[in-house]
Amino acid sequence: MHESTTRMTQPILITGGAGYIGSHTAVTLMEAGHRVVLVDNLCNSSARVLDRLRRLCGDAFEFVQADVRDGAALDALFEHRTIASVIHFAGLKAVGESVAQPLRYFDHNVGGTISLLQAMERAGVRRLVFSSSATVYGDPASVPIPETAPLTATNPYGRTKLVCEDLLRELTHADARWQVAILRYFNPVGAHESGLIGEAPSGVPNNLMPYITQVAVGQRDALNIFGNDWPTPDGTGVRDYIHVMDLARGHLAALRYLEREQKSLTVNLGTGTGVSVQQLVDTFARVTGHPIAHRHVARRPGDVAACWADTTLARKLLGWQAEHDLARMCEDAWRWQAMNPGGYED
Ligand code: NAD
Ligand code: UFG
Repeated sequence: MHESTTRMTQPILITGGAGYIGSHTAVTLMEAGHRVVLVDNLCNSSARVLDRLRRLCGDAFEFVQADVRDGAALDALFEHRTIASVIHFAGLKAVGESVAQPLRYFDHNVGGTISLLQAMERAGVRRLVFSSSATVYGDPASVPIPETAPLTATNPYGRTKLVCEDLLRELTHADARWQVAILRYFNPVGAHESGLIGEAPSGVPNNLMPYITQVAVGQRDALNIFGNDWPTPDGTGVRDYIHVMDLARGHLAALRYLEREQKSLTVNLGTGTGVSVQQLVDTFARVTGHPIAHRHVARRPGDVAACWADTTLARKLLGWQAEHDLARMCEDAWRWQAMNPGGYED
């Protein structure tokens, strides 16, 4: 069969496909003509996202409720479909929770990845895109951060990402049939422009953008800005916020790279621009017309002053770069929040 025909007919498996980044990536893949199979145990997501995906993309996807740690469920899944590639988002991601529950984090993130790789091996599917994180750079010695910067872990969540990266490096060295793209995301924010899908954190958001949108919609009284004495231009923490739809497109570019080059890679997915908490708060207010009440509080333990990506390698290898600016990230995050004040549960 012709390669492009194969690509369209053989579905791509997306683990964690009901989650924030997985659901947006599913839309991007379907819009590019792929069929996708979403697998998720719904431990941090809602089945209601599936109706939204149907509204956006029709029936070009299938959903299987399963846990990636369940090898038998994965075997059944691979047995009944000819999967071309896997994008592995499934995992737990709250840094603070990982400190309190390291066993659970290693079980889902490391155990889940091993279980998935074993099932892929049994099925003869050896093409994988893996969700890593800029957290593997720890407290970086300098910014922007290239992929060659030293790797370290400062909490159990970060350690699970590092262990999975190490495992994937060993695997690709041991067996050249494996093609793996390790994607290190910086700070994903925003939502699909329709406002139908977005980030729906349960409980008090840990991350800045969902906290800001919840203040704007009146669910929280004020944002706590963690530290105004960082060694940054305005004293607040600096990060590389990237629109989730740009991130989703980065996954498509990585899949194409694996198919084309038949070899593995590790790349940063960020914009290459550092933005401070204060800048983000000000931009959000300007773009949406909603000023964000805030107060300055002590630094959050474990935070770093500044973290942004060197994006040279992604541009060179994937021909990919982020396109949406900070204003667009705020606009889309706000549309999602305003249309869905209670996330998917409304
Ligand atoms: P998310 O929680 O919205 O999505 C993860 C999905 O995985 C959820 O739907 C959850 O129900 C599912 N899941 C968890 N454990 C599972 C298991 N054992 N079996 C099956 N499904 C399971 O998170 P997200 O923001 O979409 O993140 C996706 C991936 O990207 C994660 O691996 C995360 O660590 C990584 N990442 C996220 C960020 C971020 O800031 N959002 C940054 C860097 C890396
Ligand atoms: N911040 C606040 N108030 C809040 C939340 C955040 O001031 O209520 C500040 C933080 O101190 C930081 C910035 O906003 O300066 C961004 O914080 P986030 O929690 O949104 O993002 P982090 O960069 O701390 O963490 C994210 C992911 C982690 C991942 C890390 C590195 O949430 O999972 O990036 O990739 F490990």
